[in-house]
Amino acid sequence: MSRTIPYGGDYNPEQWPEEVWDDDHCLFTEAGIDTLTVGVFSWSLTQPAENTYDFTVLDRVLDRAAAEGRRVCLATGTAAVPPWLAKKYPEVNRTDFEGRRHRYGQRHNFCPSSPAYRARSTALAGRLAERYAGHPALLAWHVNNEYGGACYCDLCAEAFRTWLRDEYVTLDALNDAWWTTFWSHRYTDWAEIEPPSALTEHWRGPDHTAFQGITLDHLRFTTDALLGCFTAEKDALRAHDPRTPVTTNFMGPYRPLDYHRWAPHLDFASWDNYPPLDAPPTRAALGHDLMRGLKDGAPFWLMEQTPSTTACRDVNPLRRPGELRLATWQAIAHGADAALYFQLRASRGACEKYHGAVIGHAGRDDTRVFREVAAIGRELALLGDTTLDARTPARTALLFDWDSWWALEISDGPSRHLRYLDVVHAYYRAAREAGADVDVVPVTADLTRYDVVLAPVLHMVKGDLAARLEAVAERGGTVLATFLSGRVDRYDRAFLTDVPGPLAPLMGIRVDEWDARPREFTQTVPELDAEASLVFEIVQPRGAEPVATYGSDFYAGTPAVTRNAFGAGEAWYVATALDQPGVDRVVRRVLDRHDLIGPYPGVETATRVTPDGTRLLFLLNHTPHPARLTAHAPATDLLTGKHVERDEPLTLDPLGVAVLRLH
Ligand code: GLA
Ligand code: ZN
Repeated sequence: MSRTIPYGGDYNPEQWPEEVWDDDHCLFTEAGIDTLTVGVFSWSLTQPAENTYDFTVLDRVLDRAAAEGRRVCLATGTAAVPPWLAKKYPEVNRTDFEGRRHRYGQRHNFCPSSPAYRARSTALAGRLAERYAGHPALLAWHVNNEYGGACYCDLCAEAFRTWLRDEYVTLDALNDAWWTTFWSHRYTDWAEIEPPSALTEHWRGPDHTAFQGITLDHLRFTTDALLGCFTAEKDALRAHDPRTPVTTNFMGPYRPLDYHRWAPHLDFASWDNYPPLDAPPTRAALGHDLMRGLKDGAPFWLMEQTPSTTACRDVNPLRRPGELRLATWQAIAHGADAALYFQLRASRGACEKYHGAVIGHAGRDDTRVFREVAAIGRELALLGDTTLDARTPARTALLFDWDSWWALEISDGPSRHLRYLDVVHAYYRAAREAGADVDVVPVTADLTRYDVVLAPVLHMVKGDLAARLEAVAERGGTVLATFLSGRVDRYDRAFLTDVPGPLAPLMGIRVDEWDARPREFTQTVPELDAEASLVFEIVQPRGAEPVATYGSDFYAGTPAVTRNAFGAGEAWYVATALDQPGVDRVVRRVLDRHDLIGPYPGVETATRVTPDGTRLLFLLNHTPHPARLTAHAPATDLLTGKHVERDEPLTLDPLGVAVLRLH
């Protein structure tokens, strides 16, 4: 079979009589669909009772797929527990943040610490692998679905204590890390430790905690507890199937789980792209680049996107003609090696019956959505294997750190209005709109290959990160940090030095005070012709030179942005939440130093380099107007076969896409 980008999506034939499957496969052929994600929610069918497994339907689904020449991404189906399991073992039901033990209902509803759940989910995964390892249709394993949430039951409390013992070994170390002498919290027995919840350390929800240390550790614990479910299922699969790659579908920048802790355990990363409504195109791009960063730049799968509309929001707008194609090519431009939808056929009943699908309730092939899906299928067929395994040659890195995200947003002071993702996105967007390819990487990543490292709101600085950032500047690179960076250690204890802590020598500044103001308040930064808001750190240069200053108040004229010469390079510090034009101006000056600017307004560019060294330049016109560009090098558009010479004009239609192979 020739390799192409797997194209298809979630498919639930078990909900339908087999006559419908015939129509499905005809329609799949028509749309160029070759990959089916199967069995994501079929536990109650494959195991209708504790000691009964029934694979008849799944056998037929896989055999049929194989007969039709399609591949299957086979789910273990453990994300929604069957009613009998919840009834017989109530411990599998989660206990929520308010301490309420849930009863059977919904999905993603299992307690990660429940031995009853663990035993039965791994048994199911093992049975599936035993049966389908080596099946001609099997392409990949899809463990569970969109892991998330937390459980506060007694089993989880006990597991949390065990996690803490492993982490701290002694209670003295834990008391010190959490700073428990504050408010008389010194623990003298591990059994005294309660998970942080509405009944214990929290008020006003998960972000308001009396002790950041325990809440941070609980977030890490929850990440690891769910990861334990994943690795247990993966082990069960591996016992019977040593080869087929295993993944689970992530959710991009999803706060509750630190995906960097998961990444080493996946064979490849995959994710579900449902960008927030009205988000600029860089928001989805940030998700793609974050997911590509999980496996050191290796391609990932776009496991889900809607072909038309979601159902779960209050208002669910349609994707306009051309938008699906643009979103699909955007994913591929950023490193997706598969393009899959949720869902192939619309559910007849329940809460997702209005969720968009390739095939609607009427089963037609002459709908707009079906035609657009089929047209994309034809383009992917044209492309063949050209983009598979291609890498992004980014020279700019953006550090993404779940610990900093958590620490910032559970902090009392200086401002509850700061959102980590908003600030990170603003810097990411500035770099992307300036034309730079960006790797979004963990703080532990190898930084030696980058010219520019952007480190927005790096609230927590761990390990040798400060030294590695200094090394970037030392050898001529540029590091950019912002307000509320370098504040706390890995336990959320303030550094006992000048702000920004370990980053202070590199930044060449000292911060003693910071002001926070209501959302509506803005302050001008005249040199950047920008506005600033939310937080205003008062910076004293200690070697750095001011680049821009505050326009008013008692700190008028003091630096809002500084630049410090360091080794052969530079360190920039942005002391306040600049508006997007302000962030753009600062980031462009940084990128300009390294000749990394080359944008066309409204047109996104992204580069991938194939294993044989071919450079592919993706051009994505996000505007409703034609975009006129000029080729910088001779190239062939792989979607049209058209050849352009250097300096030849090139027009992209509104929402148009070009995939240029550069010569
Ligand atoms: C998620 C889930 C799917 C489906 C879609 C609907 O991504 O993984 O099962 O519920 O959302 O948008
Ligand atoms: Zn639990």
